[in-house]
Amino acid sequence: MPESESHQNERLPLDPDAETMRSLGYELIDRIVDHLTTLSDQRVGRRGTGAELAQLVDEPLPEQPGGIQDSFAFFFDRVVTGMTRVNHPRFHAHIPCPSSFAGAMGEMLAAGTNPFVGSWLGGGTLCSLEITVLRWICEMLGYPNDAAGVLTSGGSMANLIGLASARAEHDSDLLSNGRIYVSVEGHASVRKAARLLGFSDQTIQTIGVDDRYRMKTAELIDAINSDLAAGKEPFVVVANAGTTNTGSIDPLPEIADVCQRMKLWLHVDAAYGGFAAIDSGTEQAGSPEGTRRLLAGMERADSLTLDPHKWLYCPLGIGCVLVQRQDSLKRAFATEGHYLKDIPVEEVNFYERGPELSRPARVLAVWMVIRSSGRAALAHQIAEDIRLAQLAAALLREDDRFEVIDPDLSVVAFRHRSREGESEASRANRDTALMEATLADGELMLSSTLLNGINTLRLVVMNHRTTERDVHRSVRRIRELST
Ligand SMILES: Cc1ncc(COP(=O)(O)O)c(C=O)c1O
Repeated sequence: MPESESHQNERLPLDPDAETMRSLGYELIDRIVDHLTTLSDQRVGRRGTGAELAQLVDEPLPEQPGGIQDSFAFFFDRVVTGMTRVNHPRFHAHIPCPSSFAGAMGEMLAAGTNPFVGSWLGGGTLCSLEITVLRWICEMLGYPNDAAGVLTSGGSMANLIGLASARAEHDSDLLSNGRIYVSVEGHASVRKAARLLGFSDQTIQTIGVDDRYRMKTAELIDAINSDLAAGKEPFVVVANAGTTNTGSIDPLPEIADVCQRMKLWLHVDAAYGGFAAIDSGTEQAGSPEGTRRLLAGMERADSLTLDPHKWLYCPLGIGCVLVQRQDSLKRAFATEGHYLKDIPVEEVNFYERGPELSRPARVLAVWMVIRSSGRAALAHQIAEDIRLAQLAAALLREDDRFEVIDPDLSVVAFRHRSREGESEASRANRDTALMEATLADGELMLSSTLLNGINTLRLVVMNHRTTERDVHRSVRRIRELST
């Protein structure tokens, strides 16, 4: 046997021959399309103990090749069987991450061609494409077009980068003396980011909210003034453009005025709500108050967290941070290394905009979604999600057993009303029982939270696959399963 042939036979099955690659690729697409087109008939959620789920998916370390095709079968027959489907049209829990087919195709381009988007030398064209896509996002949201930005792994990383940029503006010792302001409804990732940056919990001042869960600006001003009087160094306010609990939008113009007057960095966490500001150029259906108006002031943020893997219908693993001043990111993430000496420093090197050096082409999914749909269709889809959330709220309100909080965006917060003489613990138990019953039933999935310490259920609509029929079906099942 010629040497090259024998070598070929010994190779690992990492790259099969061209024909096999094609047929495996077609098979995989067929399986994915079958999965997506039958989602509505599949169960939504699945709870399982470590032992139960390990029984589904665990196996000994493979010593011999199992093959790619066999791995497809394992994945669809066992992993998917035990999986909660966050793509499902009736997944109403948490903040859904409804990847679209266009987004998945973009991700496939990235996985298939594997560009490096850490430095200009490694991936100039893709860096250039990311710059274009970041500009598109700015344009869609009315954020300054010349902002610097970077696609991240998600909103948590974007919040970290925003806070790191705010800190990098100061030469002083902020770690012991600095002050960060965020409302009680701020996302947990803000506190986590502050801790990662070395700030103690005492550095974070939580500000109260009004009856619609929006930051109280007067309380913010008082907190800043009393910190200043105590010799502290206020440096950043984190405002919410769509809280996770209720979709509430803080009074952004007022907070931006405070920041401007007091020379504080304004970071807006718009991981959930930001893309609702996409300007469709037409009257937005389902959004009578005009979500764009609600989100006014977001464009004044020094840094802005967005999450394409939420309301831009991209696959999981794609967040975004935009920063108004080009040099702020560079100051926070300056990177040195002899092995980086060939890289053109005058171009955009994304390793100078965040903690990552090697980074994938997240841009391809975002680019694919925006390019294949266009701005108006995306704006329309988001407005449709908002309209369906309002429909869900109206349908729930028809049932006297529920108290419903009007959604600002697409989170419907609701809870059982107390019965005559019923304790709060017993009322809350009925909420929990309903949530668990829907999860066990599999028709839909809800989540729960505490609002002012009171147990509350959440029903979120954020999915291009969710139809009016799904909303009726979900609410009907909620009513049937409620006690
Ligand atoms: C308001 C808000 N901020 C930040 C995050 C964190 O984003 P990610 O889960 O993408 O890290 C979330 C997640 O749901 C969120 O709702």
